[in-house]
Amino acid sequence: MGATGEFDVLPTIGSKEIVALLPFLLQAKRVLIPEIAYPTYRVGGILAGAEVIEVAIDAKDWPSNGVDLAWINSPSNPTGRVHSENELIAAIEWSRKSGAVLASDECYLSFPDTKQGRSVLSLTSGDNKGILAIHSLSKRSNLAGYRGSFMAGDAQLIKQLLEIRKHMGMMVPLPVQMATTAALQDETHVKQQAERYRNRRAILRQALEDLGFEVEFSEAGLYLWCTRGEEDWQTVSWFADRGVLVTPGSFYGEKGARHVRIALTASDEKINEAAKRLSV
Ligand SMILES: Cc1ncc(COP(=O)(O)O)c(C=O)c1O
Repeated sequence: MGATGEFDVLPTIGSKEIVALLPFLLQAKRVLIPEIAYPTYRVGGILAGAEVIEVAIDAKDWPSNGVDLAWINSPSNPTGRVHSENELIAAIEWSRKSGAVLASDECYLSFPDTKQGRSVLSLTSGDNKGILAIHSLSKRSNLAGYRGSFMAGDAQLIKQLLEIRKHMGMMVPLPVQMATTAALQDETHVKQQAERYRNRRAILRQALEDLGFEVEFSEAGLYLWCTRGEEDWQTVSWFADRGVLVTPGSFYGEKGARHVRIALTASDEKINEAAKRLSV
């Protein structure tokens, strides 16, 4: 992760737990989320009774008035977009200026394709105040059923969050913590998995481009984000007619209404079969 300076780590029950609960734990009144995003960022804001504001990537344009928390997600679900170093630094600077917490959901960081992302914690120059990075074994080690995840960052903030959260009974069971530690000590399986996703992406990307789809971003992570300029449900239906299940982009925000998300989580065999069906 490349963290420097003082920081702490808190195990969480999957990263979904903290995505859904962080606004509540912070008693946030205004929360910034990416305009195309994993839906739980919005759900977490709603659960906390906060105002949820969609923002574009560039933090220089983010509002700061009364904002308590901003989410970033790189590599992104659903777009596979990777933040540049400058974009991450702008988000850190926004947090320092506004005094709001910056939470960086980095659960797909282990799966680079054409771009390798960075953890926000590697760019703070050791001053982690207000900065949290969220990681998950669900993705890195294919252990979704274990619910083994953690957040790392601002030690003071993590202490406060732990103080409140422990009264909610959200402790991660010790066997899961031990399995998490074991998985984190091995990089070989992660590299193998990253290679699988790269191969699957290459096969599907070629099939999609041959069909005239425009593949956007999709630089890392688990997804291909593509469009052929029509309404998302029309594209979903076109894929369904060929027995291929894809997700409508509008699930992730209005800006996604002409895209679909294609996951690379099916087996190699099924990905090859899907590419074959698309080319018929
Ligand atoms: C961006 C993002 N964050 C968090 C999660 C939650 O994953 P988990 O709770 O399994 O760690 C997901 C799951 O798909 C996700 O896409």
